[in-house]
Order: sequence, then C-alpha cells, then structure tokens
Amino acid sequence: MTQAPDATLPKRVTIFGGSGFIGRRLVQRLVEAGTTVRIADRQPERVRDRLPPHVADGLETAVADVRDQITVDAAVSGADAVINLVGILYEKGEQTFQGVHEEGAGRVADAAVRAGAGRLLHMSAIGADPDSAAAYGRSKAAGEAAVKRALPTASIVRPSIVFGREDDFFNKFASMASISPALPLIGGGRTRFQPVFVDDVAEAYVRILSDPLTAGETYELGGPQVYTFRELLELLLAQMRVRRLLLPLPFAIAEVEAFFFEKLPKPPLTRDQVALLRSDNVVSGRHPTLQTLGITPTPLETVLPTYIR
Ligand SMILES: NC(=O)c1ccc[n+]([C@@H]2O[C@H](COP(=O)([O-])OP(=O)(O)OC[C@H]3O[C@@H](n4cnc5c(N)ncnc54)[C@H](OP(=O)(O)O)[C@@H]3O)[C@@H](O)[C@H]2O)c1
Repeated sequence: MTQAPDATLPKRVTIFGGSGFIGRRLVQRLVEAGTTVRIADRQPERVRDRLPPHVADGLETAVADVRDQITVDAAVSGADAVINLVGILYEKGEQTFQGVHEEGAGRVADAAVRAGAGRLLHMSAIGADPDSAAAYGRSKAAGEAAVKRALPTASIVRPSIVFGREDDFFNKFASMASISPALPLIGGGRTRFQPVFVDDVAEAYVRILSDPLTAGETYELGGPQVYTFRELLELLLAQMRVRRLLLPLPFAIAEVEAFFFEKLPKPPLTRDQVALLRSDNVVSGRHPTLQTLGITPTPLETVLPTYIR
C-alpha cells in the first residue's frame, strides 16, 4: 500500500501528539505518502494497535513529554519537519494549559530550531484568543505566540471541532443519548460551530508541508456548513433514529454542574469548557482556509452515518 515517496514532502517528520485522534489519521496519510514518521508522546507504543499494520510497521516512536525539554530535543533529532498536535481539553495535575499549550509549544519550537528542522506546523484551535473567556483559548493563543517567537516561519493550524470515526464530540453525545432521556443544550444551544472532517484536516497538513509558500501562515479550518449546538444534537439524534428531550441549560447552571464534574478523573464537562461555549467556533474569514489549500470540505452528513448508527 505504501507508494513511491512523494518528493514534495519532507523525508522525516516528528509528530508530537501523533497517537491522538487527529494524529492517527495524519500519521497514516504521511506514511502512505512514503514519509518516515516518528510519533512522540508519553506512551507512543500504544498507537501501533490502533493503526493498520502497513502503517504501524514502519513507524518510529519516541517517548516524549512536551513539559520536558530533554525528551523533546531527543524526539526531533534528525527530523526535516516537526508537527505539534499536543493538546488537552481540561487540566489535571501537572497537565496544565500553561504547561502543555503554552510552554510545551515553545519547547517544541525551540527544539525544532536547534535541530535545524526546515518546517514546523503547530496545531492551535479556532477560539485561540488572548482575550478568550476560557483558559483553553487564552493558552492556545499564548502557544501560538511562543511558537512564532521561536520560529516566525512556523505555520499555525486552527480547526473548528473535528469529526470522524473516533471523535470526541459526536461519540460523547451519542453515548449520552444511548443512556439518558435528555441532552443538555448548554447556553440554550445557540453557540455556532463549523465541524471539519478529520481526513480534511490531515490533508491540509500534507498540503501545508509540501508547499514552502505556506510557511508563516495561519490557517483556519472549517467544514462546508455552520450549525448551532442545537442543530448538531438534532442531526445526531436523527442519525441515531432516537428521540430525546433537548433541555436548555443556562450557562450559570451548566457551570455549577461542571464544578462537580471536575472532581471526576475524566470530566465530561468543565467550567472552562462552558466558558468556551460562550463564543462561536467558526472560521473568521481573516485567514486562509481548506479552500485556499485546494481542499473541498467534506459534509458532516456524508460521514456521520459511517460511524454513528
Ligand atoms: N479534536 C478536535 O475537535 C479539535 C478541535 C480544535 C483543535 N484541536 C487540537 O488538535 C490537537 C489534537 O487533538 P486530538 O483531538 O487529536 O486530541 P487527542 O486525541 O487528545 O490527542 C492529543 C495528543 O496529545 C498527547 N499529549 C497530551 N499531553 C502530552 C504531553 N504532556 N506531552 C506529549 N504529548 C502529550 C496525547 O498523548 P499522551 O496523553 O498519551 O501523551 C495525544 O497523543 C490538540 O492540540 C487540540 O487542541 C482539536
């Protein structure tokens, strides 16, 4: 299945966070294009079971924590390009937004500079904003700034919510709908999203990597359509062919619930995520997009039936 190497792509790429949801799709795409990929995160060997054998076989792995410069430096040695996909949805113990999104991003960028990697692609998010109501959004903005300070030619990628077989958003609400008679419409369900297909995000990375003119740019990736939070849940329930009560939950009440959820090892909702829902999560129109990269965004309606039934 591996083709002749694509000459426009770097030969050796280190991907921090390559074991994650987006990482696995990107790793597969790059390996199939003939690139040698090294996955760097805290337990990279675990990913082999989650990839097809032809992808897992040729993979290199490096145990690395973006909070530890020595492991980060070792992981980028010999790389022609570095991609940082590391991100967290909530803080737990030493995994803080500042430590992972801001300082971690800076560490990876410093290491890429020292290793002489030609390209650095950094994953941020729509909502990265120094004035965001959410610490997540502020730390993503601080991460972008740290990356640009170290390497102004780094390319930044900001997606809206990403969907696909192993996504967090639709799978989480589908499991909730399978056991609960009602789903919460936080803030009334009016927040707007522009969901983007994980394979389109992976393809965007490949095109950015293969075109030197993309250096220094910030891309915002969204799908073909904008939906409110309510519309997304309605679409999901229609796909599952179930009826559930959509219960409007004012932001203030959602915050109280989230306060208690935060005590769980894997909180389904945090107060910071409630704060994030106070702003729309759509492409701003001020940055290049999937279309600029020549990619036609895949509609949610064509992919959702392949993994939600
Ligand atoms: N999914 C979306 O809807 C979405 C939307 C916008 C932006 N993004 C951004 O896209 C990126 C990837 O998202 P995803 O959905 O693929 O997330 P994911 O599945 O949770 O993957 C995150 C990756 O980061 C690694 N990681 C976490 N802490 C680390 C640390 N201290 N050192 C090294 N690696 C660490 C994780 O591995 P270990 O924990 O095993 O080390 C994992 O490989 C994130 O930056 C996220 O903010 C995602």
